[in-house]
Amino acid sequence: MTVQLQPAHPPHAGKVTLTTSLTLQPPLRPLPPQVPAASWNLVPPDAVREVDNIIQRSRWPLYVFGQQGRGKSCLAALVHQVWPSRAVWFDVSDLLSQVKTCRRDGSVDVAGPDGRTFELSEAGLFDRLANAGLLVLDDIGIRTPTDVDIEILTRAVNARAGKPLIVTSNLKPDELNTAFGARLASRLLAGVPLCLAGSDRRLTHSQVVEVRS
Ligand SMILES: Nc1ncnc2c1ncn2[C@@H]1O[C@H](COP(=O)(O)OP(=O)(O)O)[C@@H](O)[C@H]1O
Ligand SMILES: [Mg+2]
Repeated sequence: MTVQLQPAHPPHAGKVTLTTSLTLQPPLRPLPPQVPAASWNLVPPDAVREVDNIIQRSRWPLYVFGQQGRGKSCLAALVHQVWPSRAVWFDVSDLLSQVKTCRRDGSVDVAGPDGRTFELSEAGLFDRLANAGLLVLDDIGIRTPTDVDIEILTRAVNARAGKPLIVTSNLKPDELNTAFGARLASRLLAGVPLCLAGSDRRLTHSQVVEVRS
């Protein structure tokens, strides 16, 4: 089953109640640079309830999909920000290139949460993914994947079986299946596929500027 959500319009005000373990925490980590202004108040209330439900019932992974600008990365970032144990965020394209660098050079420099870089081997990189309290894989499927990409992502997703994992994508479940194959798609869709619908929020305040000569 896919849960379809429309954005809150106008934004709902007031307190957002997530699972007690999350709401009682002040933000534990900064928002990722891609979505620095993400706010719970602009997440559709049904999406908040759904995330709460997933956390309480441990129905992972959460596969958030929808067209660009629907708030997928913001939702993932907000959960990542307050997650009470170690949370790791990867842009999928960065993860793929880091694993490929390890395979070529033996290791890769990775930025830690405090901004300092440290060196990891491929095994170290996968340990980091596997042992995080929460893993976010942002934007799977922006490019047609190679067989190696599918192999790396399948390994990463397998390492998270039964553990908190949020994956965001522009790909609908059937498109995910076509692009990545049934093995990976069935693992990603086994928890809760959540569709963020509505219009492109990036365009809300955009106006065409017409210049005449
Ligand atoms: N929860 C939110 N809080 C604040 N801004 C939001 C939120 N959701 C969407 N937006 C606005 O919409 C833009 C696109 O959101 P984003 O999460 O990057 O979309 P997607 O990942 O679906 O492409 C953001 O840069 C922000 O301006
Ligand atoms: Mg995004």
